[in-house]
Amino acid sequence: VIDIRKLYAETGYFTYDPSYTSTGSCQSAITYIDGEAGVLMHRGYSIEDLATNCDFMEVAYLLLHGELPNPDQKYDLEHAITHHTMVHEQIHKFLEGFRRDAHPMAVMCGVVGALSAFYHDSLDINDPRHRMISSHRLIAKMPTIAAWAYKYSLGQPLMYPRNDLRYAENFLHMMFATPCDTYRINPVLARAMDRILILHADHEQNASTSTVRLAGSSGANPFACIAAGIASLWGPAHGGANEAVLNMLEEIGSPSRTNEFVKRAKDKDDPFRLMGFGHRVYKNYDPRAKIMSRTCHEVLEELGMQKDPLLEIALELEKIALEDEYFVEKKLYPNVDFYSGLIFKAMGIPTSMFTALFATARTVGWIAQWSEMVEDRDQRIGRPRQLYTGSTARPFVPMDQR
Ligand code: ACO
Repeated sequence: VIDIRKLYAETGYFTYDPSYTSTGSCQSAITYIDGEAGVLMHRGYSIEDLATNCDFMEVAYLLLHGELPNPDQKYDLEHAITHHTMVHEQIHKFLEGFRRDAHPMAVMCGVVGALSAFYHDSLDINDPRHRMISSHRLIAKMPTIAAWAYKYSLGQPLMYPRNDLRYAENFLHMMFATPCDTYRINPVLARAMDRILILHADHEQNASTSTVRLAGSSGANPFACIAAGIASLWGPAHGGANEAVLNMLEEIGSPSRTNEFVKRAKDKDDPFRLMGFGHRVYKNYDPRAKIMSRTCHEVLEELGMQKDPLLEIALELEKIALEDEYFVEKKLYPNVDFYSGLIFKAMGIPTSMFTALFATARTVGWIAQWSEMVEDRDQRIGRPRQLYTGSTARPFVPMDQR
């Protein structure tokens, strides 16, 4: 690793690294990825261990505080989160100002950014207590805002959070219950939702996390920074990929047509890519995809949907791509989004909500990374350089001569 900052100070040289494929932007103790080996760890614990043995609140505590919580610490975090799950009634009114057919991510960008207008009491980013209250507020309110965006799009009454429920259960309640039914939370689906939240909680310096850090490096408040992260996550090359996977599986339509689409993905003249395959960092099986695949089978079995046509297409696609020379050579394996869309669909979550769910989970990682950055005295305002490719100096041309 070369310390470019030192090199720049001494020589004026800087690197040209479009898309930052080989530039470390920070030091971080939160998440470790070995893309070649297919390893993901949070604070030294493997994602497999965390997804198997912990719930989302424990992982949230780990990301925020650096250690797994003991029972008292876990209780305190759960208590702090449930204390903040309600969203101000004026925010409720604000949300209802959006068009009913607005994409939930558009609503979330706007509403989360607007939270900074409500919580002046926790905006001193240099005060650790303020940072923690803002973190709790964001983690607590994201499921409420996401579920409300969904209910609003349906024209159904918004369901208020229930503090007797756990995080994932409460989210399912706000998404699917109505005031006049007896919606019961299925424990298998609640556990699957919890696991999905864990698998999406953090993934070091991806586009949205880097956006949160860059926005925060100017001293902007955490609500504004997380809104920036939500905007970045929205794109189909990032959080929008599971929505794109499902659309692709629907377009393929039958396992017998998978070869045709694999062929298209390999054609350099065709912009089509197999959605849910490939990753900037993983050049091996994404460890989250393995857990997601298991969870997908559990959910479909619970719901009696093992013969789901989209699952059959997905399995066929996975088989063909894993054996295909092009995909093997380029190390393009299924990523976390390949199966998450199928799980969400089986649960009855509409595609437009997929990225909103991802944003809900990732808020924990974003806010942990933001806090780490604020505490890091080595961090100054982020300011990438550029290679100027425009005109050299030229004389000004007055309006009447142009
Ligand atoms: N299907 C077909 N070919 C692919 C795919 C794919 N899904 N992904 C990459 N390739 C090919 C590229 O065409 C390129 O080929 P070339 O070397 O002959 O030009 C090569 O593999 C490298 O691809 P890049 O785009 O340079 O790789 P990068 O690291 O920039 O992209 C990305 C990673 C964006 C994830 C890419 O693999 C992709 O578009 N995948 C589909 C979208 C997707 O699933 N995104 C979710 C990512 S996970 C997440 O955000 C949580």
